[in-house]
Amino acid sequence: ATAVLRTVAEVKAWVAGLRREGRRLALVPTMGYLHEGHLSLMREGRSRADVVATSIFVNPTQFGPREDLSRYPRDLEGDVAKCASAGVDVVFAPEDPKAMYPPGYQTYVEVTDVSQGLCGDRRPGHFRGVATIVTQLLCLFRPEVALFGEKDYQQLQVIKALNRDLHLGADIIGMPTVREPDGLAMSSRNAYLSPEERKRALSLSRGLKAAQALLREGTREAGVLVGAVRRELEAAGLREDYVELVDAERLKPLALVEPGQSARLLVAAFSGTTRLIDNMPLAG
Ligand code: PAJ
Repeated sequence: ATAVLRTVAEVKAWVAGLRREGRRLALVPTMGYLHEGHLSLMREGRSRADVVATSIFVNPTQFGPREDLSRYPRDLEGDVAKCASAGVDVVFAPEDPKAMYPPGYQTYVEVTDVSQGLCGDRRPGHFRGVATIVTQLLCLFRPEVALFGEKDYQQLQVIKALNRDLHLGADIIGMPTVREPDGLAMSSRNAYLSPEERKRALSLSRGLKAAQALLREGTREAGVLVGAVRRELEAAGLREDYVELVDAERLKPLALVEPGQSARLLVAAFSGTTRLIDNMPLAG
């Protein structure tokens, strides 16, 4: 059965028990309202470690003042059932944000280079909040392995950097984006979409696939590849936040996909008021 822990003290006691038994731990941090994308991380954790823990915490420090913190979807009971089906041993669901940010809390983690550009520029403070909570979780659980999705590609690079720079010692595993049959990247925020907005949202993955096809046919210019995504967004009437071609590791803008280069094409756009992101690899 999957145990649910509600306090930091309970986590510390549970982790101490694991350490005494010398068992390998995999950690999957989430904000809940779980879908197949989350569950794929848990199953992979199951195959890489003896014990799997998931955290479910809607982290207030990563939301901007005009973002969706208060209406972010929640379903703890359903989430715990899904975790159990994916073989998760322990769910950490802090009962209150004060569990992670008690009175007197004053420590924040800032990752510089890879937090800049893309979502970092459009959501000021977002990656500081992500880096802070993920650092707390990695310090608390000390997992051998921690799993994250490529769906949030810049976030994955931020987490790899903090784990390396702060000597946290986890293996950070990036997992491929799980999609709906029609190509839409799974996201808890898809719950906000009306049927009409859901249809229009397909233009993100459609545009990225069009760019991949162009590259296969020999088109290497960033302007043309980005243009292919923009065309789909415009046709669907979506408002673009950004479309950018970057180096896959450092996330610096590229003018061209050179032969042998690992590039990544990233998009953020609004369908109605819901902000959606997606990305795909472009291998030179
Ligand atoms: P959340 O959006 O709940 O996502 C939790 C993890 O699931 C992240 O690593 C995310 O990249 C991954 N994920 C989401 N959708 C996915 C999909 N369609 N396919 C594969 N993986 C997917 O990301 C966060 O929460 C938070 O920022 C967090 C890291 C937990 C810090 O608060």
